[in-house]
Amino acid sequence: MFIEKFRVDSPNVTYGEDEIRSLYRYETTEVVHEKDNVSGSYHWTVRPKTVSYEFKTDARVPKLGVMLVGWGGNNGSTLTGGVIANKEGISWATKDKVQQANYFGSLTQASTIRVGSYNGEEIYAPFKSLLPMVNPDDIVFGGWDISDMNLADAMARARVFEIDLQKQLRPYMEKMVPLPGIYDPDFIAANQGSRANNVIKGTKKEQVQQIIKDIREFKEANKVDRVVVLWTANTERYSDVIVGLNDTMENLLASMDKNEAEISPSTLYGIACVLENVPFVNGSPQNTFVPGLIDLAIHRNTLIGGDDFKSGQTKMKSVLVDFLVGAGIKPTSIVSYNHLGNNDGMNLSAPQTFRSKEISKSNVVDDMVSSNGILYEPGEHPDHVVVIKYVPYVGDSKRAMDEYTSEIFMGGKNTIVLHNTCEDSLLAAPIILDLVILAELSTRIQLKAEGEGKFHSFHPVATILSYLTKAPLVPPGTPVVNALSKQRAMLENILRACIGLSPENNMILEYK
Ligand code: NAI
Repeated sequence: MFIEKFRVDSPNVTYGEDEIRSLYRYETTEVVHEKDNVSGSYHWTVRPKTVSYEFKTDARVPKLGVMLVGWGGNNGSTLTGGVIANKEGISWATKDKVQQANYFGSLTQASTIRVGSYNGEEIYAPFKSLLPMVNPDDIVFGGWDISDMNLADAMARARVFEIDLQKQLRPYMEKMVPLPGIYDPDFIAANQGSRANNVIKGTKKEQVQQIIKDIREFKEANKVDRVVVLWTANTERYSDVIVGLNDTMENLLASMDKNEAEISPSTLYGIACVLENVPFVNGSPQNTFVPGLIDLAIHRNTLIGGDDFKSGQTKMKSVLVDFLVGAGIKPTSIVSYNHLGNNDGMNLSAPQTFRSKEISKSNVVDDMVSSNGILYEPGEHPDHVVVIKYVPYVGDSKRAMDEYTSEIFMGGKNTIVLHNTCEDSLLAAPIILDLVILAELSTRIQLKAEGEGKFHSFHPVATILSYLTKAPLVPPGTPVVNALSKQRAMLENILRACIGLSPENNMILEYK
């Protein structure tokens, strides 16, 4: 059964006008490797441990502005048009039916959580009913693009939406024109050069100052309380991480001042946002977050998150391999082919930008493989190959073909083949929405463990967003979790903790 909303009734939870507070018992374990005093040998001990936490969530939902880097791209124009269509209640004729706008594919807007059972029936509520979140219909969009095309023409160029929908959206979108962006041909494919007619001139420092000015003016012009910036521009090549150049906050800022060539455009947008205390999320695979930028974000306590939207093939992979390894089956070879014909595909046809994608797509099974020492020897890893080809004819309708070969019982082999076809931007747009909504929400949550004097926000490196990213950015020394079900559980359970609900444990003991 589905309910629209609910309230928690508990002595540990208070709903105030401005904030929601909860007292929470975090059940965890402590693992020690200790010496037995009698035998002298070492053994592993696991001790259950309870830590009390207090959570405090600001319940006042701000008016949110979202500035996209690469606003005029396929993702940017699809997301903007999709939100307008939802807000305006637009429907359009397809060859099959009259289609209504929706937010399918968005975790916050179109998925549910189980809150309990009632008369023997499971009760589900919208994910977004957990805590007060920004309604996507109320978001004001803006941003930058190195192409000056207005959003209506960009939507037509993207060839994602049905023509009847495009016609209805055009009046809303033709006046939306991206601000000039920071362009450096050294970082994206040479084939993007003809698009770059809308660029910020000047030194790197001046470019960063311009981005800060743009954010301030956007905020003022649209009367928004908060801004989140998200990179959905072209994939850049990796930038070299060099001691003295971009390894620390001081060195990165000094390198920007010196106009050093190796500081990428995406890192410059990141610097601007962190200096302005605006959350910055990277939806592409490159290493925007060089150590100096992470250092700066930590120092200024500004949320950063990334990298690379987890939309299609990788999402399947982080489900399938988790299932196989969790079932005691040993994946030994994973081969992934993609072909796509949009501008992203054209940009990825250059070896340096492809390499960024290859790295981002390659590490996604590591945590699952290393979780099972029965199947894999230490250091052993399945063969894992990723191929991406540019095929203009298929446009945004990306094809992903995967072959998983595994060893099963008694030396048998099992091969699973997947063929996935779908508009790439229709997968990415709802993910962008979730990223900005959850990034904003997470800046309103504060917590304090027992013994800690003061409330503090989450670590600025936002691991809470990892469900939505292929290569989750984590604070130095933190484990990376790629398995999709664990990522979703982490996110859901943290939000549940904010309203004093224990983690979803699926035990259903009431009926045992
Ligand atoms: P796109 O090529 O259609 O759009 C990118 C836009 O960024 C273009 O309009 C381009 O002019 C602009 N741009 C390039 N460099 C810029 C800069 N420095 N500043 C401002 N604007 C700049 O690509 P699409 O399909 O929208 O994808 C965007 C990014 O998202 C790509 O890096 C892609 O790899 C990544 N991504 C997409 C996924 C999907 O499912 N669509 C999944 C995972 C990642």
